[in-house]
Amino acid sequence: MVDLTGTVRSRAFAGALERSGPVGEATPERIRAVGLHAYFGRTHAVRGVSLGVQTNRITAIIGPSGCGKSTVLRCLNRMHELVPGARMEGQVLLDNEDIYAGEMDPVMIRRRVGMVFQRATPFPTMSIYDNVAAGLRLNGVRDRRTLDDVVEHSLRQAALWDEVKDVLGRPGTSLSGGQQQRLCIARALAVQPEVLLMDEPASALDPASTLKIEGLARILRDQLTIVLVTHNADLFTRPRDPRTEDYITGRFG
Ligand SMILES: Nc1ncnc2c1ncn2[C@@H]1O[C@H](COP(=O)(O)OP(=O)(O)OP(=O)(O)O)[C@@H](O)[C@H]1O
Ligand SMILES: [Mg+2]
Repeated sequence: MVDLTGTVRSRAFAGALERSGPVGEATPERIRAVGLHAYFGRTHAVRGVSLGVQTNRITAIIGPSGCGKSTVLRCLNRMHELVPGARMEGQVLLDNEDIYAGEMDPVMIRRRVGMVFQRATPFPTMSIYDNVAAGLRLNGVRDRRTLDDVVEHSLRQAALWDEVKDVLGRPGTSLSGGQQQRLCIARALAVQPEVLLMDEPASALDPASTLKIEGLARILRDQLTIVLVTHNADLFTRPRDPRTEDYITGRFG
């Protein structure tokens, strides 16, 4: 069981809960964050958040706007430090290793812990194909056959292949919003992350696209580990903390 609820504390209430896998079936812990504090200059955005993320589970984070959900995600793959003036305190363990230890390469951490953002962010000048291949090329992969295989596999994993297989040379930005978000998921999957952080990946989408993306998360769960920020209360089946139920049903905000 993913154990988030009860350990997540933020400036406002941030609920988090487990929604996948048989109750009681424990899997190894992939990420453990302890006492996270995050700052933007003098703004203290995240105050003492601790959470655990189990392998092959979807760990959901919910909470009101501005409570620090996106910031917590960015602390889990060292993207927070890319914001000018930002800093953090606390510990994040990935497979029991401190990702903020001196010898850790942040670029490698971001490869192992990929991220899909609130708004689709395809590279604007790149084709659909090149968007998906970008991470591999950055890693030095040049072999066309390998690239072709990974691009197809990633687009299939992101449930986009059938819609784009004949137009791979078109700009990524020519796709619809929901397709662009799935393109970004394919791009993140192409470098084979161990963990995928999904920050409200369906927030700008219609209900059908939302279902597609969140259904996708369920399928991907078997292959990797997902941390999902979402407002879709339907996803939650077994809140661990009664406050979560109250939050979802609007009794507690
Ligand atoms: N780049 C930034 N510079 C300064 N303050 C920031 C920055 N990004 C976020 N903040 C502040 O940090 C706090 C947490 O922001 P964050 O984006 O993590 O919230 P959130 O829970 O993801 O909200 P939402 O549900 O609206 O996406 C907010 O008060 C916000 O104003
Ligand atoms: Mg956010």
